[in-house]
Amino acid sequence: MGLPYRSFVRPILKVMDSEKAHKNSINILSKFDDSTTGQLLLNSIYGAPDEPITVLNNLFRHPLGLAAGFDKGADVLSSWPSLGFSWGEYGGVTRFPQDGNPKPRMFRAEKENALINRMGLNNPGAINIKDKLNQRKSTGNWPSIPIAANIGRSSKISNDDAPQDYSDTLEILWDYADIFVLNVSSPNTPNLRELQNHSYLDLILSECMKIRDNSIVYKPILLKLSPDRDDDQIIDSVDTAIRHNIDGFIATNTTIKKPVPMNTKSRKVLSQEGGLSGRPLHNRSLEVIRLIHGHTNGNYPIIGVGGIESPNTAWSAITSGASLLQLYSSLVFQGPSVVSNIVKGIKKRRIDEGFENISEAVGYKLL
Ligand SMILES: Cc1cc2nc3c(=O)[nH]c(=O)nc-3n(C[C@H](O)[C@H](O)[C@H](O)COP(=O)(O)O)c2cc1C
Repeated sequence: MGLPYRSFVRPILKVMDSEKAHKNSINILSKFDDSTTGQLLLNSIYGAPDEPITVLNNLFRHPLGLAAGFDKGADVLSSWPSLGFSWGEYGGVTRFPQDGNPKPRMFRAEKENALINRMGLNNPGAINIKDKLNQRKSTGNWPSIPIAANIGRSSKISNDDAPQDYSDTLEILWDYADIFVLNVSSPNTPNLRELQNHSYLDLILSECMKIRDNSIVYKPILLKLSPDRDDDQIIDSVDTAIRHNIDGFIATNTTIKKPVPMNTKSRKVLSQEGGLSGRPLHNRSLEVIRLIHGHTNGNYPIIGVGGIESPNTAWSAITSGASLLQLYSSLVFQGPSVVSNIVKGIKKRRIDEGFENISEAVGYKLL
């Protein structure tokens, strides 16, 4: 099915404005979302093999999930497994509804296989998303895969008031995800990334961990980090989070560093303000995975994200220390078949290299 996507669907999406193309994808998926037959059909085309791993007290059919930002409004949760993903992350969700930045705000650098976006955490807000998810639960259309929720700071809230803003959203969504991600690394909300500094991070984590520790059902909370801070600063955030009993890390969010453009069209795209994702992010993402894995002696689960687009890139992230993976950009460039291609590839690689299961390969490169 990779061929039809590349031959027919992709050329149409290519001439379309990036955000419109994305909206179209969500619209198409929503048609399949509440239809079991539709989901079975998608699954027969895009389903991925099993390559099980248990992480964060959850069993994952295989390590590869959908990254935050694709299903910001949690609209097509039930289609995620049909596209082959073993788990997924909705959001970023903020406490208050917000429109995000003016359009256009999402761009494709075709030659580089990279996206630039400055969406600015556009989303319907925590309460609306909770209502939507509540309805989904009550109609029995809740997918049987682990679901993560990505939480960001509302743009109208100052950094000083961020702890309450994050913990309110966390509390509102507590029953509507298995895993929570504190996003202190989006480059498109002014000053948000300063929240990675320990003075802010301490307060945010204190408030959020109260929700986790006072709830009947324990759910893991992860911290999602930016690739743009230097290694010492990243370690400082990691240590702060560990002091607050964080459950794991996501490495990484998009970068504001841009590669040298490969042609004139890319020059225009890469001069856009915003966060870059996709192929050029991969190496730095691997460095950050390795840094955290080494610093924590492999004691904290790391979710590797950034330029995962092939079995090789996925394998590199796993052997650098990631026990789970996510992708977004390669879905745009290659279509949904990228998911099963990667899972098939890592399974083969794991068997070829003599590992009994995929968790044995996690961080193997660093041993
Ligand atoms: C259009 C777009 C929107 C995104 N929105 C979010 C978001 O709301 N929260 C977040 O933590 N990351 C967001 N991300 C970052 C992705 O989750 C991921 O970290 C990044 O794209 C790197 O992965 P990739 O190279 O596979 O795309 C967004 C990325 C894109 C391209």
